[in-house]
Amino acid sequence: MAIKLTPLHPTLGAELRGVDLTRPVAPDVFAEIEAAFNRYGILVFPGQPVSDEQQLTFSGLFGQLEVNPNYAGAKMRLRPDVADISNLDAEGRVLARDDTRNVFNLGNQLWHTDSSFKRVPAKCSLLSARELPSSGGETEFADLRAAWDALPELRKRDLDGLVVEHSIFRSRSQIGFADFNDEIYRQLPPVPQALVRHHPASGRTSLYLASHASHIVGWPVEKGRALIEELIAFATQPQFVYRHRWSVGDLVMWDNRCTMHRGRPYDDTQRRVLHRTTVSDHANTLEQEGLVATSFA
Ligand code: OGA
Ligand code: MN
Repeated sequence: MAIKLTPLHPTLGAELRGVDLTRPVAPDVFAEIEAAFNRYGILVFPGQPVSDEQQLTFSGLFGQLEVNPNYAGAKMRLRPDVADISNLDAEGRVLARDDTRNVFNLGNQLWHTDSSFKRVPAKCSLLSARELPSSGGETEFADLRAAWDALPELRKRDLDGLVVEHSIFRSRSQIGFADFNDEIYRQLPPVPQALVRHHPASGRTSLYLASHASHIVGWPVEKGRALIEELIAFATQPQFVYRHRWSVGDLVMWDNRCTMHRGRPYDDTQRRVLHRTTVSDHANTLEQEGLVATSFA
């Protein structure tokens, strides 16, 4: 069956049909999927009722998979290489609104890109919708390539080469979450990332922003924070954003190197269950951009 691509937005995202992700994907078909991914930044695969194993197998074609630390400390519902994007406890019951895990997961409603707080961040994430609330709970995606392209040339010149400190503690402090265990502090120290990235496969330039972005290395903290907030506001204007309304069985993958995303609110007494697999990039962004993090050496 031939692959069929339908763009979803003027600059970002395409729906991809004509492939069965519950079965092994042939190399020539994978090459087409990868090319579409590099071009569109987001791929929506409707009607893919994958198991965790099948999702991991497909995700593994893109690179090495991330294994998640136990951020919130409670017993986990899923295996550590499948991120639990749900409002359920380990027994499959809906969590109380003020449960630590729910509060931690609220961080997903801030504009971010996955794992930018890790030295080597995520290349792409694949999210499979298993159960959905009756309304709300959409996911929005912002095109950081189109946002870069829209900046004035002088501004681009000033931004290129800046280094940003990212930390999970920065994003979670914005939603009032501080219940990390000591192990998480030890495992996830703040990391430097490039503010401007060059996407190897597409040749596109993009901003690299996230709620995890704290400040600009070498600048006063408040000045750097103001710049990051200004750029996030700029990059998430409606013309750069695609909103995905989920159906059960959708598998959506996004390029964390050149997009941001956020979950939208929903009635959290209803079940919302998505399973995410995450593929690591091959190197820290400073190495990729040829920048040296002197203050982190
Ligand atoms: C994620 C994420 C948002 C959502 O899975 O990485 O941020 O809508 N999800 O659940
Ligand atoms: Mn995310």
